[in-house]
This record gives sequence, C-alpha cells and structure tokens, in this order.
Amino acid sequence: MRIFIAGATGVIGRRLVPLLLAQGHQVTALSRRSQVPGAETVLGDVYDPTRLRELVAQARPDVLMHQLTDLTSRDFAANGRIRREGTRNLMDAALAAGVRRVISQSIAWAYEPGTTPADESTPLDLHSPDEYRRTTVEAVATLEEITAEAPEWVALRYGMLYGPETWYTKNGLMATSPLPTGPDVTSFLHIEDAAHAAAAALTWPSGPVNIVDDEPLAASVWAPAFAASVGAPPPQPADSPRTPWARGATNGRARNLGWRPAHPTFLDT
Ligand SMILES: NC(=O)c1ccc[n+]([C@@H]2O[C@H](COP(=O)([O-])OP(=O)(O)OC[C@H]3O[C@@H](n4cnc5c(N)ncnc54)[C@H](OP(=O)(O)O)[C@@H]3O)[C@@H](O)[C@H]2O)c1
Repeated sequence: MRIFIAGATGVIGRRLVPLLLAQGHQVTALSRRSQVPGAETVLGDVYDPTRLRELVAQARPDVLMHQLTDLTSRDFAANGRIRREGTRNLMDAALAAGVRRVISQSIAWAYEPGTTPADESTPLDLHSPDEYRRTTVEAVATLEEITAEAPEWVALRYGMLYGPETWYTKNGLMATSPLPTGPDVTSFLHIEDAAHAAAAALTWPSGPVNIVDDEPLAASVWAPAFAASVGAPPPQPADSPRTPWARGATNGRARNLGWRPAHPTFLDT
C-alpha cells in the first residue's frame, strides 16, 4: 500500500515507519523539519492546508496515518488544536485525494465516569463539569468524528504510553514530577505495542479500538513500582477520592482483531 504518515518523527511514528517499510509498504512521511529514514520525507506543516493538500495529492496514498500530537512542550491547548484543526486539514486533504482509509491516534481515557474499565461502547465524557476535562474530551471527540468521514477509518484509543523516550523514563517527566498515589486507575500501553497496533490497523474494520495493556492499575499500585524502577523516592500514600472518569479501559475488541500486547502490564517494566 501507499501510506502517508503525519507524525512520522514522534515517539510512535519513529517505531511505526520501520514496521510499515518491513511490511513492504511505500511510505511518505510528513515533517516540519526532519528527514525520515527509509521513507520519502515531505516537508510541511499541518496548519498549511494548501501545501498539505498538494503533498497528499502528490503521494496518492491508500491510507493516511494520523499520528500527530503536540506534546513536546506539554502545551495541552496546542495538542487540542492539533486534534481539531490538524485533523480537519488532514481529512480535507485526504478526501480531496480520494484516500480510502484514515487511521488516527486517539486516547483511552476520554470515557465518561464509571467504576469499571470502559469498552468502546462507553460514551465519551462530553458533559464533565470540569471545563478543562470537557475541552480535552471535546477535542478528542472532534478528532474521531472527523476521522469517521473517511470511507474506512480506525481511531486508535491509546492508553498512557510508557517505554523508551516517553514521559515514563528515568529522566522523563513522570520521574521528575510528584507522582499520584490514590485510587485513580490508568490503562498503560508500551510504546512498541502502540506502533504494532497502528500497523495492524491497516486491515481492521472501521471504528474506535482501545489499545491498552491487560492490567488497568490504580496509582497506589503503579506509582510506587514506577518510582522504584527509576530510582525516585517512593510517593507518599494519599487518602484522596477517585477521579470518577479515571477508570481504565479494556482491550477485548483489539484482541478479537488479533492484536496482543507484548507488554501485558506496566508492572513488568
Ligand atoms: N497516549 C499517550 O500517552 C501519548 C501519546 C503521544 C505522546 N505522548 C507523550 O508525549 C511526548 C511527546 O511526544 P512526541 O515525541 O511524539 O512529540 P510531539 O511534539 O507530540 O510530536 C509528534 C509528531 O507530530 C508532528 N507534528 C506536531 N506538530 C506538527 C505540525 N504543526 N505539522 C506537522 N507535524 C507536526 C511532529 O513532527 P515534526 O516535529 O517532525 O514536524 C511529530 O512527528 C512523548 O514522549 C510521550 O510520552 C503520550
């Protein structure tokens, strides 16, 4: 297949491009600045819709892979913008070029409150009284709604990424910030498993799919284990109430599609 990947130089893209090349695909990689080894790199910005249309039209891809985030500076407003405007610009370029399939990076912690891990039929948390939370989920919903305009589409609802070059490393953000310690539940995902799921999604049926490991974990369990693994001081236990939406997610749908996490639990790292 011909695949156009936006986000080829990010933590997932850097692992995904070699997988796609190894499968024999022809890869065109968008970046604002960097050459992508093995792929045809095209320089452009997702906020330049005219150039983006030209680039996608020239590449004539079968699949547009949307792995864009804007998290290097941890500016969550910028990340919301790329979900809304970046996805819009990508989809307009894809539709104009007759792209058959669009695969987008989403998240698995946008579900409404509940006490058990969410599956893909759980509604998104669009009515949260917390404005910051609501704004985040609205941007995620917009990204997925736009993605669903493609004839074939997959929204990869990734868990919290960990592994090399993520925030969960010895010198990463989480090792150098205060850790949570209460009952909030997180579903994690190893960075290698994220890349493999994206490559597998080239043939999946349309819809959202949770891509998370097998073991949603309370912060009271994962945070001490993570602190020990990176040599950080153990977090002080806290008697805080659970954030109602911090419930984790299930991976049954992805498993039914044949995907398995090679790293089934964050606790093994
Ligand atoms: N589910 C999760 O938990 C999750 C998901 C993603 C990231 N993260 C965290 O966020 C950290 C940073 O992620 P990252 O290293 O992937 O970096 P990033 O800054 O989020 O960039 C990701 C990709 O988006 C591209 N991009 C961003 N803005 C663009 C624009 N305007 N036009 C075209 N391309 C654009 C970048 O390409 P160029 O810079 O080459 O143009 C890069 O390929 C990671 O370490 C990870 O821990 C977590």
